Amino acid sequence: MTDVPVRPPAQLQLETAATVYRTVREGWSGPLHVGVDLGTATCVIAVIDSSGLPVWIDSRSTAAVRDGVVVDYWGARDATASLKSAAEAALGVELARAATAFPPGVDASDSRACRFVLEAAGFEDVLLLDEVSAANGALGIVDGVVVDVGGGSTGVGVFRDGALVALDDKPGGGHHLDLMLAGALDIPLEEAERLKRTHAGDYLGILRPGLERVAESIRALTVGAEELEVHLAGGALMIDGADRIIGSYLDRPVLSYPHALYITPLGIARHAS
Ligand SMILES: Nc1ncnc2c1ncn2[C@@H]1O[C@H](COP(=O)(O)OP(=O)(O)OP(=O)(O)O)[C@@H](O)[C@H]1O
Ligand SMILES: [Mg+2]
Repeated sequence: MTDVPVRPPAQLQLETAATVYRTVREGWSGPLHVGVDLGTATCVIAVIDSSGLPVWIDSRSTAAVRDGVVVDYWGARDATASLKSAAEAALGVELARAATAFPPGVDASDSRACRFVLEAAGFEDVLLLDEVSAANGALGIVDGVVVDVGGGSTGVGVFRDGALVALDDKPGGGHHLDLMLAGALDIPLEEAERLKRTHAGDYLGILRPGLERVAESIRALTVGAEELEVHLAGGALMIDGADRIIGSYLDRPVLSYPHALYITPLGIARHAS
């Protein structure tokens, strides 16, 4: 196993991630660590170096994985192989090892399918972990609740003294917000997704019940851990005001992060050897 990279502040990791999207960070120094996040909305590759900062980020929109279950094996393999070869071409090195992650509710055989996807895409040595532990690889929360809200599901982990003591998930994510917006405004789903990304603040009234549903999932999965701060990862809550709505529903401190959709991929990479 190669050295574990240091962990810079989450904010710095994430702001750097946004600058290295399909752009190599100059001056990186190996060894490199590779994470592949097989998500419902997007498959993301994150490559970090020994400084713990991202060197390269890329993504593919696919419908090949749904809530951690590989529903289109060849589609997932092709997306991963394409991410791998684009990264190798940009970086000028071969990437043989990688880590990947699965949502908390996924059983062992489905989670193994994620490993097989990476192996079929050409990675030789694949580490598999749950996505909430992965997200915390980037955040480094010692005592707190880490939530990953993606396209389809809300994963919730409780960390005490740095150890994961509870882990579960519930349905509900960005896709559900799209459905609410499309239904309320009587517009196609793709238009709802576009509006949500550009003008979510104008539609908080419509989106509020969906955000409160996420908050209710967090409440239900953190009984007995109400005193801990909640940290929001995943793309679905990259909506201005989402953290306030969730915080006031839960009546406890809730922290959001810039470019939160990169938290889990970066954390996965941090776990890779
Ligand atoms: N700028 C943005 N504003 C609002 N929502 C966004 C933004 N960017 C991405 N999203 C939403 O985030 C969701 C995808 O997040 P993420 O990439 O974390 O999910 P995923 O990992 O593919 O899914 P899952 O973890 O559920 O399998 C989508 O529903 C998308 O609409
Ligand atoms: Mg995800």
